[in-house]
Amino acid sequence: MATFQTLPGFREFYPEDLARRNHVFRLWRQTAVNFGFAEYDAPVLEPLELYKAKSGEEIEAQLFSFTDKGGRDVALRPEMTPTVCRLVGAKANALKRPIKWFSIAEFYRYERMQKGRGRCFNQFNADIFGEPGPEAEIELIALLVQCLCAFGLTEQDFYVRLSDRNLWFYYLEALGLDDARIRAVLGAVDRYEKYGDDAFKGYTEQFGALDPALKEKILAFLQIKSLAALEQTLANLGGKPAERLADWRKVMGGLEAMGLTRFVTVDLGVVRGLAYYTGFVFEAFDRKGELRALAGGGRYDDLVQKLGGPALPAVGFAIGDMTFSLLLEQRGLMPTFVSAPDVYCVIGGEAARRTAFADIQALRASGRRVEYPLKEVAFGKQFKQAADSGARIALIYGDDEVAKGVVKIRDLRDRSEHEVRAGDLFTVVRDFFAAD
Ligand code: HAM
Repeated sequence: MATFQTLPGFREFYPEDLARRNHVFRLWRQTAVNFGFAEYDAPVLEPLELYKAKSGEEIEAQLFSFTDKGGRDVALRPEMTPTVCRLVGAKANALKRPIKWFSIAEFYRYERMQKGRGRCFNQFNADIFGEPGPEAEIELIALLVQCLCAFGLTEQDFYVRLSDRNLWFYYLEALGLDDARIRAVLGAVDRYEKYGDDAFKGYTEQFGALDPALKEKILAFLQIKSLAALEQTLANLGGKPAERLADWRKVMGGLEAMGLTRFVTVDLGVVRGLAYYTGFVFEAFDRKGELRALAGGGRYDDLVQKLGGPALPAVGFAIGDMTFSLLLEQRGLMPTFVSAPDVYCVIGGEAARRTAFADIQALRASGRRVEYPLKEVAFGKQFKQAADSGARIALIYGDDEVAKGVVKIRDLRDRSEHEVRAGDLFTVVRDFFAAD
């Protein structure tokens, strides 16, 4: 008989895996809500046109696309940004500003598979619309950092690289390059970390070899790693580059006031491959540099309008769940018992079962998570199951206890035990968890 497997790069979530994923989603969601972001959702299948020439060549080449039965060209979404632009664009005037939205959803890209990269993955997306100033960047970088710190990660585990496509444009313009050449150079900068000098091949094919003095300047700019170095390089240029430094000071100043600069590095080597970014761009990486990007984002002030909406500035980012879960596991921060019950009932014979069932139902109805063995099994085995479940306490309904009208409570952490009268059980359990 043929055996069926998942398609390459697709994941299945057995309950334990899903419990871990839910744990990640829960903390992301909670963090976004704490920052005042509202959650939205949208279809997984979209018109192919939405991504053509908007997401950039790389994503376009990775689309899962086909023609549906109505003859429409469609694609599974590779990212949320064009979709959220459509949503916001359609109701921009009716939405309360600033528009701060987030989503947690599944995406599809036909990528070459590697550690932390699949063809189907989840992203947490957060975006702010309607705010042209760098205040939006501060809010989003703070949210990004907190989405990682909420799990116990620290500045020793990850950092955010902050860069600026505007500044690159202004700088290259000042060096005398036209728009087409600037875009080709930015493509090379994007690939430089991975391919070194070969990254400039595309430029050379299009425009001939870069003048060595110019190239040296570009490589020096790419290596800038601090605001001070940036200020020094741009000091003599005046005009737009100098004005832009005011925005940089604002972003870094805001982050400093929030105590977050230890997480953020100025790094002009990041320009982002996606086609729509127009200003600040940023990416989060693990400090050891072992994993691919944890998150990426930036400003994209033209996209809402390009997709048929009004002119509306926007900034946002997405965290992927694959590299992020790998990092949590590497650091021992993925909890083992993310789905443990509060109470596990250890039950004797038939009469004990009937008594226990009444309590189990009442405790569950009161909001406690309660488990018990569906079938009668030996006491010893039930205690093992209680311990394995990760429950906080065990309620023991032995035949002797039931005959005496009591229930034994065992604290599964310190293994202490005491008996309570059956009529008091509900209150005792409630008080125990309230004090825990
Ligand atoms: P992105 O850099 O393409 O940006 O993806 C963001 C994150 O999603 C990556 O850093 C990575 O963690 C995860 N990711 C991307 N592709 C894969 C894959 N094939 N397998 C596993 N994880 C993956 C965007 O998607 C932008 N739309 C983000 C954004 C939101 N910009 C503005 N708003």
